[in-house]
Amino acid sequence: MCGIVAYIGEKPARDLLLEGLKRLEYRGYDSAGIALLNGGLQLAKTAGRVRVLEEQVESDDRFSGCMGIAHTRWATHGEPSDRNAHPHRDDAERGHGIVIVHNGIIENYEALKTYLSDHGHVFTSDTDTEVLAHLIGHFYKGDIEASVRQALKEVTGAYAIAVMCAEEPGVLIAARKGSPLMIGVGSNEYIVASDASAIVAHTNRAIELDDDTIARLTTDSFRTSDLENVTITPQMRELEVDLEQIELGKYPHYMLKEIHEQPGAVRRCLKGRLAASEGRVVLGGLAEFAREFGRTGRVVFLGQGTALHAGMIAAHLVEDLAKIPSRADFASEFRYRNPIIEDGTVVVAISQSGETADTHAALREASRKGARTLGLVNVVGSTITRDSDAGVYLRVGPEIGVASTKAFLGQVTASVMLAVWLGRRRFLSPSDASTILEHLETVPDHIESVLRQSDQIASVVSKYVQRENWLFLGRGVNYPVAMEGALKLKEISYIHAEGMPAAEMKHGPIALIDEGMPVVVVATRSSQYEKVRSNIEEVRTRGGHVIAVATEGDESISRICEDVFYVPDVPEPLQPLLTVVPLQLLAYHAALLRGHDVDKPRNLAKSVTVE
Ligand code: AGP
Repeated sequence: MCGIVAYIGEKPARDLLLEGLKRLEYRGYDSAGIALLNGGLQLAKTAGRVRVLEEQVESDDRFSGCMGIAHTRWATHGEPSDRNAHPHRDDAERGHGIVIVHNGIIENYEALKTYLSDHGHVFTSDTDTEVLAHLIGHFYKGDIEASVRQALKEVTGAYAIAVMCAEEPGVLIAARKGSPLMIGVGSNEYIVASDASAIVAHTNRAIELDDDTIARLTTDSFRTSDLENVTITPQMRELEVDLEQIELGKYPHYMLKEIHEQPGAVRRCLKGRLAASEGRVVLGGLAEFAREFGRTGRVVFLGQGTALHAGMIAAHLVEDLAKIPSRADFASEFRYRNPIIEDGTVVVAISQSGETADTHAALREASRKGARTLGLVNVVGSTITRDSDAGVYLRVGPEIGVASTKAFLGQVTASVMLAVWLGRRRFLSPSDASTILEHLETVPDHIESVLRQSDQIASVVSKYVQRENWLFLGRGVNYPVAMEGALKLKEISYIHAEGMPAAEMKHGPIALIDEGMPVVVVATRSSQYEKVRSNIEEVRTRGGHVIAVATEGDESISRICEDVFYVPDVPEPLQPLLTVVPLQLLAYHAALLRGHDVDKPRNLAKSVTVE
């Protein structure tokens, strides 16, 4: 995904746009660009981070004016380069000075490019976005809004765009379909952005554009309409994000900040939702469907990456606590499998951003087949929340680090509450529910105690950080934790790591184990504890070095492992909320020791809003 920001108002736009790009840079960071209208069109774009662009324009007086658009890119079509960076424009010679920034994918761009080339258009990049700029120029007859509308009717795919035209200074066009776009409404100014992080510094009033909506903005007016030019009354809302939540504060990296925010994040996720002594969970977002969900015959959890790992835990919890058949699946696989959806099936989309294209598409497929759909999502008003029948917001606050941490804990916390909520409508007794919920309330304090081991974890990591292959093993509800630990290490340290059920190791991966290979094993007190100990022995007899995550007080485990990270004892269903924390810190310290950019790892973006 990419980050787009645009401004029209009475303030100088350049620095405001560059600041907005820095707040959106977690969405994509391989190249960046800016365009300003100030009597003429000034455009600069470059491969590299926003700071490279800033160095190019910050002292260039030509980049003045109170209206502009800007972009930070995660490449989909065309490698990261100056020429493929946004903004893109229509034909430099014959054009009208139409410039555009875009987040999404124009799926039929090749056919459009052929048509436009046949009509004399000359392209300078490999991107789908440049084709859209030329298409708008092709239809332009003096009204930029009308030409954008006409062009978008020819487009299939997803877009969030901001468009300006040198022949119509003072008019900014924004439009969206399938990719997020918000408009911050200030005093005689509008800030268009991919998400609230680029808006909250200027205003807390915003409009969330719906799909197939076009906005026409001037310094003193705005109008929203559909592709048939029928006026749409937009929904204004108050942004719940504040600057402190998206500032780094005392931390060196967002990932470390968000790891340390986890106790508070879990408390916020729980707040107002538990009556633990009564064994009751209150999920206001599900109230409308309480009876229907109470008769649920099957629950399917969908997600990608970390969210899928949370879904795997959620499926385990729902079967364990609510005795409802449940499974988790890659959203990207589910959506194309022509899935069988029986009556009474509830499909739950898990997503931090609420914008993951595959997860959204899978949710829509499930809905088309008659499933009731739920969203366990962090970002309020995001696409998945808007297309779900009901949902539970994670409430963990904005997550900026590309490697998801506190959102994972929010997803698992929400899943525990959902499992108890469903269970209490089935066979889970008030006392059993109360036991789980009372332990759940202690989790934030327990996370605090695990976080205090950060230096010890860093010291252990330093022994193995040069090893290029790691295994992560776990059983039961801790098997997805092993998967999550492997993903964290892979995505920020670039070390190859594989997570799997501990028993699976003997069916092939054990061949990988050589002298000193680091093998992380989640070995907490659990129903399969003795089996896990056997797996540890199997690793050690082949020379592997075991780093265990174990239950406080279990001294015996330290006699068979090289290193042990201890977590407080909680009931097995709640263990992932604690066992994942040492693995997050392990990955963080490994990435630091290997000199990588923890918050903006190579090739990644915070949310994958394209297939
Ligand atoms: C996790 O650290 C990754 N950043 C990635 O796997 C992420 O969890 C996945 O892309 C899903 O994103 P979502 O939760 O926003 O849908």
